Amino acid sequence: MKTYKLAIAGGGSTYTPGIVRSLMDRLEDLPLSEIRFYDIDGERQSKVVVAAKAVIAEYTDSIKVIDTTEPETAFDDVDFVFAQMRVGKYAMRELDEKIPLSHGVVGQETCGPGGLAYGLRTIFPMVELIDFVEKYAKESCWIVNYSNPASIVAEGVRKLRPNAKVINICDMPVATMRNMAGILGVNREDLVVDYFGLNHFGWFTKVEVDGVDRLPELREHISKWGLLTEDISKIDYRHADASWIKTFKNIKPIMDFFPDYIPNPYLQYYLLPDYIVENSNKEYTRANEVMDGREQSLFETVRKFEETGILDDAFHVGVHGIFIVDVTISIAQNLAKRYLVMVENKGTIPNLPADAMIEVPALITSKGPVPEYVGEIPYFHKAMIDQQLASEKILVEAITEGSYEKALQAFTLNKTIPSAIVAKKILDDLIEANKEYWPTLTKKYQEGV
Ligand code: NAD
Ligand code: G6P
Ligand code: MN
Repeated sequence: MKTYKLAIAGGGSTYTPGIVRSLMDRLEDLPLSEIRFYDIDGERQSKVVVAAKAVIAEYTDSIKVIDTTEPETAFDDVDFVFAQMRVGKYAMRELDEKIPLSHGVVGQETCGPGGLAYGLRTIFPMVELIDFVEKYAKESCWIVNYSNPASIVAEGVRKLRPNAKVINICDMPVATMRNMAGILGVNREDLVVDYFGLNHFGWFTKVEVDGVDRLPELREHISKWGLLTEDISKIDYRHADASWIKTFKNIKPIMDFFPDYIPNPYLQYYLLPDYIVENSNKEYTRANEVMDGREQSLFETVRKFEETGILDDAFHVGVHGIFIVDVTISIAQNLAKRYLVMVENKGTIPNLPADAMIEVPALITSKGPVPEYVGEIPYFHKAMIDQQLASEKILVEAITEGSYEKALQAFTLNKTIPSAIVAKKILDDLIEANKEYWPTLTKKYQEGV
């Protein structure tokens, strides 16, 4: 039987043990001989690997585990790489969220100025990872990438490493479908959806079960409760934190305004930015919630396991773990399963630029994703997408050219930012905060000229 070697880059991630459990649940479809954990923070990763090893031991003793900070040891001869790096870790996420908020603008991990800042940190480390993988891994190796901000990462990779075998994925569409299925009382796998957009910036245009249109029922439910099932924690406790509940509730006001399609929950930041800011706590953001919640409970579980040998069942397999493994199995076995992923447009949506990285249904094969033709999209959605796309594309130009002016253009174009004046203030604060991480952004003209 063919077995695979898999590396996880960003092995110290809080998601690692859940993803490992998901891999273990699917060993029949994706038999593994080795799992290599790779991170630049060896100390953090080694703690997480304690939990990962304990999970693996519940299933098998035939998988070799490597815990390393050496790229060659990590990637030599591997078949797959899962990427989930958070460049700058939660300390920088916290600043990405708090600096914009201090200027009255949305403070978010992947959307608005916070997302742009995270993008400026991540492109070059992502390119470095691709180069390591190309140097050491099997030629057939695919990188399945969750590292955010996925939209900007996808554009950076398209531009700088156009031939790399990277598939950029996001769990938000599947998480949204998980909620839809809960509301409709069906299995998520039975939903047939159409969807178009950019990552964290798209719309579901069709939801069917057995050929029957279920959008009317969902509209009705959303008009009362948003995209929430009665008790989301029973379905997936990862999205049961207060801030996520609010996010799913916010689908209601968006659909009250624009009832045609079901929006990706992240559209709240672009369509309701003033409301979001009013309801944000500038002192305690999602980064704080995650550090005090998911991160602390992971390290507490590891500490307890080392002390007592008892592994609390803290690493459940939510859609996040299931989805990355589903995509990988579809590549490994050339199953051509249909999932929503990021691809280069190339005419899939004829009224968007051919070189846009869009998120649409695609068949996942061993040669990569094959997108399904979508067709022209309505003007409203196109206009929003064009603006966001321009912001993200110009940001990538700013990174590759080291251009301050382009960074400022990218910030100014972002719909969450009200003016060039505010854009400049936020950008300047973020430059200061990201000194260690960002490429140098040079001004072509003296200020005031
Ligand atoms: P985390 O901080 O717990 O883990 C990230 C790890 O990446 C850390 O251990 C860090 O040391 C490591 N890292 C940073 N730079 C690195 C580099 N250059 N090379 C190797 N490792 C590096 O973060 P988390 O909350 O667990 O999230 C992990 C990543 O997954 C983030 O990028 C997050 O945005 C992303 N994510 C994406 C999706 C999606 O839908 N696309 C969903 C969830 C999380
Ligand atoms: C969703 C998104 C991810 C994002 C994550 C943040 O799953 O698809 O792209 O990273 O939420 O979740 P967190 O719990 O870290 O706020
Ligand atoms: Mn995502």
